[in-house]
Amino acid sequence: MNIQPFALERLLSVWENRVEINLSESGLQPLSPSEFLAPSTWEKMFHLPLGYAQANGLDELRQTISSLYPGTSPENILVTNGSSEANFVLAWSLLEPGDEIIIMMPNYLQIWGIARTLQVTVKEFYLQPENKWRPDLEKLADSITERTKLISVCHPNNPTGMVFQPEEMEKIISLAQANQIWLHSDEVYRGAELTEKETPSFWGKYERVIVTAGLSKAYGLAGLRLGWLVAPEIIISRAWEAHDYTCITAGTLSNHLALLALQPEIRPKILSRSRQILQRNLQILTSWVEEHADVLDFIPPQAGGVAFLHYHLPLNSTQLVEQLRDEKSVLVVPGESLGLDKFFRLGLGVETSVLQEGLQRIGEFIRHRKNTRSQD
Ligand SMILES: Cc1ncc(COP(=O)(O)O)c(C=O)c1O
Repeated sequence: MNIQPFALERLLSVWENRVEINLSESGLQPLSPSEFLAPSTWEKMFHLPLGYAQANGLDELRQTISSLYPGTSPENILVTNGSSEANFVLAWSLLEPGDEIIIMMPNYLQIWGIARTLQVTVKEFYLQPENKWRPDLEKLADSITERTKLISVCHPNNPTGMVFQPEEMEKIISLAQANQIWLHSDEVYRGAELTEKETPSFWGKYERVIVTAGLSKAYGLAGLRLGWLVAPEIIISRAWEAHDYTCITAGTLSNHLALLALQPEIRPKILSRSRQILQRNLQILTSWVEEHADVLDFIPPQAGGVAFLHYHLPLNSTQLVEQLRDEKSVLVVPGESLGLDKFFRLGLGVETSVLQEGLQRIGEFIRHRKNTRSQD
């Protein structure tokens, strides 16, 4: 089997801990247990026997996750090692060679890469930068054939931070429904809104909707490696069979800590912290982009932990990222590894001082490149 390289994760795996300023992360500045747990609870964790957790997720955790998705029961939930495992077991258990899937781009490209590895035909429809990232739904409609098994979107979108308008969600649902196609929505950034309005889930809008999500991004708990799949029972049972082969179960401590993080008295506090960080950092970024308006422009994200910046320099995004990394020890993500060149992605969930230092260095890099260009 030829595994499609996962360019984005490869870049992060190799470089994220080797640079001085890491702006490649898409989630929120990590929380430590002491920031959301009372010492007495932590004491209980200390005595927790570290055997295997219930393989599909602790009953209480699945119950708690299910309470976030109206109309579900714990039987509709599979707890996984991060939302990346949720995406993986979904694709591995659902897709077969010869199937077609349609993916919304630009994108994190995990489902895209797994599908190509499984010899599934991948078609794409784009969020359009010239139209404030509104999706090209005509292209989506035109791409559907009788072999289309899955439409996959990321909502809120990584990397643009786009959130669908209600009529766009309805259109996507109606296209899926008319053709009885599964609709997958990766909602791992839900909860990290830059506006007051929570991003609506696709869950409950059609009987063939599958949602993946987890605690890595909006909650700032990536190190728990705790994600989940929400789906009709038939999909959950097939995905659990795949999960028997991948990791058997998520970690015991992670199951328990996730249960605590999702309690009604704790979850809103975590998400409110996330929004404050994002709003503060977005203001800083916006002023900085204005200062560099001759080279940069962007459509501000509505949600999620990143901004996707368009630049006018005569180099492609992989070259830009490599040169920036080597010259300034700052890591950002090339648009090329997200399916759209001449953009780069920058994390907004970091500590403000780190963002400021990173922007200062990127500014120096850009000015230098611009001056070199004007001397050409
Ligand atoms: C859209 C999307 N889905 C899934 C993941 C995987 O996240 P995790 O496995 O940490 O939950 C990421 C990570 O960047 C992502 O951007």
